[in-house]
Amino acid sequence: MQEAREAIQNYDDVDNWKTVMFLYNSALKEVGTKLEILNDEFKHVHSYNPIEHIKTRIKTPESIVKKLKRYGYEVSIDNMIRYINDIAGVRLICSFTSDIYRLASMIGNQSDLKVLTIKDYIKNPKESGYKSYHMLVSVPIFLSDSVVNTKVEIQIRTIAMDFWASLEHKIYYKFEGNAPEYISKELRDCADMVSMLDEKMLSLNNEILSCQRQKTIEGIKEEVSEVTKQDAEKLGFAD
Ligand code: GTP
Ligand code: MG
Repeated sequence: MQEAREAIQNYDDVDNWKTVMFLYNSALKEVGTKLEILNDEFKHVHSYNPIEHIKTRIKTPESIVKKLKRYGYEVSIDNMIRYINDIAGVRLICSFTSDIYRLASMIGNQSDLKVLTIKDYIKNPKESGYKSYHMLVSVPIFLSDSVVNTKVEIQIRTIAMDFWASLEHKIYYKFEGNAPEYISKELRDCADMVSMLDEKMLSLNNEILSCQRQKTIEGIKEEVSEVTKQDAEKLGFAD
């Protein structure tokens, strides 16, 4: 088993770049397919989709270079593999916070994925108000003559958290990270509203599920009593 850094040593820089990007693209496909299968299996067993949708993306070269410089590292392919964890990124959007932890545990149980780090920004939101569950995993990519472990960042969040994060991201970029305090404060307030909405939607969904369960139980009881009545009639015990 090789690490991505070891897989690139014998080529020149252009070939190295192509090899690295090929590995990250393959890792993204691998993890994307794996998650689709888990979602389909869950739907098959529980008649319910924990994932609303999946977004995947590869970080642009400009953005990789910018991040390396921001971290204070020399721009090199070796440093990018070593220090940039989100070159391959998958975002899972789900309806309820309970789906997030369900998905995280399903991912953690995949024997071919190695979970490298977990950041739970739902239990510990960022200063900005940002909430999401981040998992950094490594996935083995099977090539013709070797197996290379490649990193993928998985972000799991609800639709409401995603809505907040995209707006906050736009504002952050518009003000280049220096938004006026009143805007940052409004955003933090919105983050609280998002959390309240998520909680309300989850409890409402639980109510709906329990009503459905109750209806099913009543239906079964009715069927049983009808069958019992018919049996009694057959035996001449009918009243
Ligand atoms: P970078 O923040 O990417 O430098 O790496 P890190 O090691 O600090 O990872 P972290 O888990 O904090 O964040 C990784 C990713 O989460 C970012 O690239 C964003 O996609 C997202 N993210 C983190 N914080 C925020 C935030 O305050 N607002 C928004 N909109 N997204 C965030
Ligand atoms: Mg960060």
